[in-house]
Amino acid sequence: MQTNSARLPARRSGVTVAPDAREAARLVATRIVAFMKEKPDAVLGLATGATMEPVYAELVAAYRAGNVSFASASTFNLDEYVGLASEHPAAYRSTMNRLLFDHVDIDKTRTHVPDGHASDPSAAAARYEAAIAATGPIDLQLLGIGRNGHIGFNEPGSPLDSRTRVVELHSSTLDANRAFFPDGRMPHFAITMGIATILQARRILLLATGPAKRDAVVRAHAGGFDIDCPASALSDHANVEWIVDAEAAAGLSG
Ligand code: GLP
Repeated sequence: MQTNSARLPARRSGVTVAPDAREAARLVATRIVAFMKEKPDAVLGLATGATMEPVYAELVAAYRAGNVSFASASTFNLDEYVGLASEHPAAYRSTMNRLLFDHVDIDKTRTHVPDGHASDPSAAAARYEAAIAATGPIDLQLLGIGRNGHIGFNEPGSPLDSRTRVVELHSSTLDANRAFFPDGRMPHFAITMGIATILQARRILLLATGPAKRDAVVRAHAGGFDIDCPASALSDHANVEWIVDAEAAAGLSG
């Protein structure tokens, strides 16, 4: 519904524009809470990155307020660095524990993050794809977007039919995430769900906030799949909603 209030989100086809990052994160959390009420045993696809932190804070608050339960849910995270112990503060497993899993009623044995510390990361990636196939399909996949248009760690050049695999991180991704590695020892490889894996989710919510995401948001909406902008693959999906703040949406026309 259109509204004249600047504080309420504006909805376009597939794109919802929130006034600021906080409201955008709230909207995403609201969608997840509503979804969990509909389907308490949902399989959720989860994402990391600074953009997601307020979403998880909202979900923890909703859980504490008695508005949501994750007791019957299963989760699969998109990606993980290769070579980090799961307890490393920058590992996505420890990040997810810290931001969400430790604070809600989820059964941790049903929370999945690729095993970046496996002796054979490619075999671990294949096992992860198989686990998604066995438990899934993913009902609701949460996505962020990299400045270069990546989703998960599917960097530009990732094919549409890619599956969970080991990938090399691009220099812009290394630069964007360097702050999480104060000792300077940042992994250059990761395990990520593939684009085809992501597109199998029944429903996708992509959250993008801030001016650094503006170009990637524009390129992803240029029409059709552009291999240099992995998020453009979402144009092939029947149930995807982009939730963006005004800064990230500024380059979109109409
Ligand atoms: C990382 C993650 C992505 C995430 C992206 C954006 O590279 N692997 O899944 O979408 O960063 O992160 P941020 O939200 O910090 O900009």
